[in-house]
Amino acid sequence: MYIKEINIGNVCIKNNVFLAPMAGVTDKPFRIICKDFGAGLVYTEMASSRAIFYNDSKTKKLLDIENEKKPVAVQIFGNNPEIMGEATKYVTTFADIIDINMGCPAPKVVKNGDGSKLLTNLDLLGKIVENVVANSTVPVTVKIRIGFEKENIVGVQAAKIIEQAGAEAITVHGRTREQYYSGKVNLDEIARIKENVKIPVIGNGDIRNKKDAKLMFDYTKVDGIMIGRASLR
Ligand SMILES: Cc1cc2nc3c(=O)[nH]c(=O)nc-3n(C[C@H](O)[C@H](O)[C@H](O)COP(=O)(O)O)c2cc1C
Repeated sequence: MYIKEINIGNVCIKNNVFLAPMAGVTDKPFRIICKDFGAGLVYTEMASSRAIFYNDSKTKKLLDIENEKKPVAVQIFGNNPEIMGEATKYVTTFADIIDINMGCPAPKVVKNGDGSKLLTNLDLLGKIVENVVANSTVPVTVKIRIGFEKENIVGVQAAKIIEQAGAEAITVHGRTREQYYSGKVNLDEIARIKENVKIPVIGNGDIRNKKDAKLMFDYTKVDGIMIGRASLR
């Protein structure tokens, strides 16, 4: 049995095949279509905690999940624990799940110390998760890569800190930031992360068909899978 119900904190999700958050792609119409086609959980495009904090109207539009089939996860990013906490106070009033982006490789995100850059500062990463959890009334999840570069594979370490900080699930894209979207997804590292935490782990990266999905489940023993680019074809 691969496809099954999954609980993230107190949120019961009818299946464990999730649509990946994709900036510029997973807007409201796209989320609705994917939900109709059976995605268990869908995510908003990533939204800046700073922009939420400063009440930016364009950003707030990204967060509009009204009238969508539940549950919908809202993804936020940022590197300041206080501002992440403040943004959480707003997002928690309507989101079913709050997801923290700690995997984005884009230069404009990394140069500000956000996204995957946080994998180079695990103390800060832990503080951010703690502060989001402290300010949230809904389950908090975190999406990571396995490290910033191949010399620093920190997936297991990061996952343990994230679990300890109170997150209810972790999604792992099995690449480093340095790899961007090149090379192969590191299934061994996803498996190691799964072995080392008790909260659900969602495997992500290069799942394009049934065979890839089966391999992700069989090889890593993850609790669920997340599909990004293949959903566009
Ligand atoms: C166009 C595009 C936009 C993305 N935007 C986000 C994002 O906003 N937040 C995030 O966590 N990941 C983002 N990602 C990464 C995906 O969620 C996913 O981790 C990655 O594409 C690997 O999965 P895949 O091989 O199934 O595509 C983006 C990926 C693409 C291709």
